[in-house]
Amino acid sequence: MKLTPQQIEQFDREGYLFFPSLFSPGEMRTLNEAVPALYARREAFNVREKGSDAVRTNFDAHLYSEPFARLARHPRMVEPVMELFEEEVYMHQFKINGKMAFEGDVWQWHQDYGTWLNDDMMPTERAMNVAIFLDDVNEYNGPLMFIPGSHKKGVVEAKHDLTTTSYPLWTVDHDLITKLVDRAGGKNGGIVSPKGPAGSMILFHSCLVHASTSNLSPWNRVSVYLSLCAVSNHIRRFKRPEYIAHRDFTPIACLPDDCLVKSYPVDLPWKNGMPASALATSPEPIDQIKTTAQAVIPA
Ligand code: SIN
Ligand code: MN
Repeated sequence: MKLTPQQIEQFDREGYLFFPSLFSPGEMRTLNEAVPALYARREAFNVREKGSDAVRTNFDAHLYSEPFARLARHPRMVEPVMELFEEEVYMHQFKINGKMAFEGDVWQWHQDYGTWLNDDMMPTERAMNVAIFLDDVNEYNGPLMFIPGSHKKGVVEAKHDLTTTSYPLWTVDHDLITKLVDRAGGKNGGIVSPKGPAGSMILFHSCLVHASTSNLSPWNRVSVYLSLCAVSNHIRRFKRPEYIAHRDFTPIACLPDDCLVKSYPVDLPWKNGMPASALATSPEPIDQIKTTAQAVIPA
């Protein structure tokens, strides 16, 4: 899928693009059907809401679920990002966020690149999210909220919030959010929240400030996020476990456009379980790990 010059200009100005109903109900069916069994698994890759059994985020389904492995290679999701970066991309994170009916908790105001820089030492902001709605998203079930144009500020000050929700996040304080919203138009467009049917897609800049409220409605708001990073911009530190911040920087090879309705062979390296190595962490930058490893190799 190629972006038009108008879309490229809009992305540059606003920091996001919204594609309502980009995928058909038929394309979404297999993905939706696979979610309950994935969420039922008692594994580290299912992060549950604080004090609840509801899944907040499922990580890495593209490594153990065939429908999601095909989605992770979908040209409608991956090609626009390669076009914007003029480079191949790898999968930095793959998440199926639940935001389940009555239980889905907030995502505090943040920039994704803030976390990728502070935790993973990703060198620049050449990475972004592409989200696809598995459920209809409306004003009641906790839609994503964006501050248009906030990506132009680059990385803003953030604090590591380990208490508000079950998932640690580098969050932006309320004074700065107020200023950014005012600058973006205040009550006239200072916050936007793209809503639409299942199958709609959002692509957004890694410095775009965003959040979502809790879901007090009776409707789930399951969405998938591909966080795609330019290969040359791969992370330089493995402080977070591999199941959260990936260490395989292989460029994504897209499948044909009909890959959600036709079966194509895909690799499922974690189909028999997550390897123990995916939980290992290291505080040192990877160039130092290599140096240490080389130092102990006998000449
Ligand atoms: C995120 O910001 O990573 C997730 C937000 C959401 O799913 O509402
Ligand atoms: Mn985010």
